[in-house]
Amino acid sequence: MSTTILAIESSCDDTSAAVCRGGIILSNLIASQKIHEQYGGVVPELASRAHMQNIVPVVDVAIKNAGITLADIDAIAFTQAPGLIGSLLVGSQFAKSMSLALNKPLIAVHHMQAHVLANLIDDPKPEFPFLCLTVSGGHTQIVLCESPLQMKVIGQTIEDAAGEAFDKTAKMLGLPYPGGPLVDKYAKEGNADKYKFPEPQIPGLNFSFSGLKTSILYFLNNAGTSNVFKEEFAVTAEEKKMFIENNLSDICASVQQRIVTILLNKLLKAAKETGIKNICLAGGVSANSGLRQSFLKMGEKHGWKTFIPKFEYCTDNAAMIAITGYYKYQSGAFADLSVNTSAKAEWG
Ligand code: KG4
Ligand code: ZN
Repeated sequence: MSTTILAIESSCDDTSAAVCRGGIILSNLIASQKIHEQYGGVVPELASRAHMQNIVPVVDVAIKNAGITLADIDAIAFTQAPGLIGSLLVGSQFAKSMSLALNKPLIAVHHMQAHVLANLIDDPKPEFPFLCLTVSGGHTQIVLCESPLQMKVIGQTIEDAAGEAFDKTAKMLGLPYPGGPLVDKYAKEGNADKYKFPEPQIPGLNFSFSGLKTSILYFLNNAGTSNVFKEEFAVTAEEKKMFIENNLSDICASVQQRIVTILLNKLLKAAKETGIKNICLAGGVSANSGLRQSFLKMGEKHGWKTFIPKFEYCTDNAAMIAITGYYKYQSGAFADLSVNTSAKAEWG
């Protein structure tokens, strides 16, 4: 009989539960929390409360949709780190209670490892070793993956994540949260070569996006005449608004192109340095159409085998926790009830 894993993900503002049997996802349910939109970002306290309301029905429906009963579950996997501590606690306490009640083992999963392993859910799967560019709202990493449970972070952002760069750009443009998908939408109609934004010169395989953010801020404050702070360049609030309104698509396209080149130039460097040709994307930002297109084009040019998970497995979801739980079950990597959640991302 194949192993059946129930998985719970609650690291940020999505409550998700999934069931996986023998490495096949039988169900994956995600309850998103709309309440944060009006605040322009995720409010941790509200996220924990919404998880409390959502977790019982979400797990219940995930079990029903999978066509299994509680008696079929062999182990319970949950996101242990990183994330908002209150949100993580709701999922971990729920998983621990189920583990105790059903007398089944508990599996603690690292959220970033799970994003990478989302690439092992569907066929065709990448061969080991592979590289994964994981780009989300909280993280930007290049991961070298030797086997499902052997991974090393070989590059990461030294401050802001790629998703944050998208969301903060959107905020500066007056677009609602989360703005990444909207920047993508407007960019499709814009001229990506119209405005130039700087590419940071960070050594090695690390990333930086805070300089780009500052440069966009001054660019908008100066209505496009310059990317640097100079009092005489600054325009009035009304002129700034008009400039954004008249050039929204071109600004979005130009910023998006710069974020994409920052990401892919480092990925290319990593591929050259390691000689690895199986290359994956993961995380919410891999939904970005500009990144997907340029990634696939770069792959073709350099003879890579490229992989991008299905959209529902790119953004936060419990299917990726379930698949990671499946590999951890096979290697006997269980946690006991005293395991703690952690907000910190340290790993690899
Ligand atoms: O992986 P994810 O769902 O959550 C985290 O673990 O952070 O990623 C969310 C991030 C947000 O910053 C969101 O704006 C961004 O992914 N995102 C996008 C797109 N879709 C989602 N960014 C750019 N273009 C998109 N189409
Ligand atoms: Zn995530």
